[in-house]
Amino acid sequence: MDRIKIKGGNQLNGEIVISGAKNAALPLMIASLLTSEKLVLDNVPALADVKQLQKILANHGVDISIKESSDDDMGGQQISFHAKEITDTCAPYELVSAMRASFWVIGPLLARMHEAKVSLPGGCAIGTRPVDFFLDGLKALGASIKIEDGYVIAKAPKGGLRGNRVHFPKVSVGATHTVMMAAVLANGTTIIENAAREPEVSNVANCLVAMGAKISGIDTHTLTIEGVEKLHGANFEVLPDRIEAGTFAMAVAMTGGDVLLKKGRVQDLQAAVDVLIDAGVEITQEETGFRVKANGAGLRPIDVETDVFPGFPTDLQAQYMALMTRAAGEAHIKETIFENRFMHVAELARFGADIKIDGQSAIVNGVPQLKGAQVMATDLRASVSLVIAGLVADGETFVSRIYHLDRGFECLEEKLGRCGADIKRISD
Ligand code: EPZ
Repeated sequence: MDRIKIKGGNQLNGEIVISGAKNAALPLMIASLLTSEKLVLDNVPALADVKQLQKILANHGVDISIKESSDDDMGGQQISFHAKEITDTCAPYELVSAMRASFWVIGPLLARMHEAKVSLPGGCAIGTRPVDFFLDGLKALGASIKIEDGYVIAKAPKGGLRGNRVHFPKVSVGATHTVMMAAVLANGTTIIENAAREPEVSNVANCLVAMGAKISGIDTHTLTIEGVEKLHGANFEVLPDRIEAGTFAMAVAMTGGDVLLKKGRVQDLQAAVDVLIDAGVEITQEETGFRVKANGAGLRPIDVETDVFPGFPTDLQAQYMALMTRAAGEAHIKETIFENRFMHVAELARFGADIKIDGQSAIVNGVPQLKGAQVMATDLRASVSLVIAGLVADGETFVSRIYHLDRGFECLEEKLGRCGADIKRISD
């Protein structure tokens, strides 16, 4: 199994091109199930999760063709998806269990084919992650739902799904994507209240509009969707990955240096940018992206609470915790979205970090220096927090189980390496 080896201590200087957002690319790919015409997506990141979803879509009968990017800006594929005919409305356990987002196919399958049989996704490392909001939302649109042998069996009423009011008890990105995709082909109007308004949700909503859907209230917590009979093909671009941009911003804040994050958009990341600025990092939006400058010494500890957009993203909590391990004082970090997203704490402790857990909060006491260590990735964002720690740790760090990193970070070592980091992938 591959590992990442890092020799800490180098500042980061130069430019990094931010890839397309994984969490927009996945639901955009799933949206291709809604039409018999071609959906062509640009700026799709080459990631393990994207490959996994390609397998799932192919299993439903989607024809997929990939045009790799030819230039040197690392990644960014054009992929076309053609769901001319859906040949199978079942998403089996073997495929769905590898990635939670694949459960979301239930929305478009039900909308277009009036039936779907999709394996329950199960729990995952960051929490139990139930699907009750999805099922209640689809039931509100008239679907009958049965759970049998670990599968959700959903059927639309005669004539198809029917528009209705859907109110989510809590903001959920996945449930919003799924019910929105189901509602675009329903009869009548659906109003989704307490919808997620993460930039990735708006990206998908805008793609659906480009495919002929009628959606208003995009970028707000209330989406109004007037069902149409059919969607058509479209060409659409995946938005830049705000979590990747935030991760590199934290890496630069940690090591010190000056890096232009090309395609990075401060407006998608304002809460995290504000925290970094308060901590003493310089961030400025430029024409082609945003620039992060830090001197690598003496960050102020700033308390953070994760929240839904536009709050501080849970997907940056682990990276921020790594950063605060070297702040000049004590920072409190509260996780409010997932119940079990502190698994990086034990691994960060191997570098000599001083972190205590108190319920949903972590209390991080900055230390003057981290020491290189052998650590293990536990989930996607946790694993990159270990890389950030390794970049400043004294001596060598080895991160194992890096298949987690490959799920969500395109060309990570190359991007950091070009900016001066001493980082490489090694095979044992
Ligand atoms: C999406 O997950 C992202 N995944 C996650 O990114 C991200 O952390 C999360 O949104 C929050 O921003 C993708 O976009 C592929 P939720 P999702 O439904 O949709 C509870 C990463 O590292 N809930 O918004 O699964 C749930 O348990 C990943 O890239 C229910 O109770 O998250 C959680 O506490 C990790 N019942 C909260 O809502 C439901 O039916 C928010 O989860 C659905 C969700």
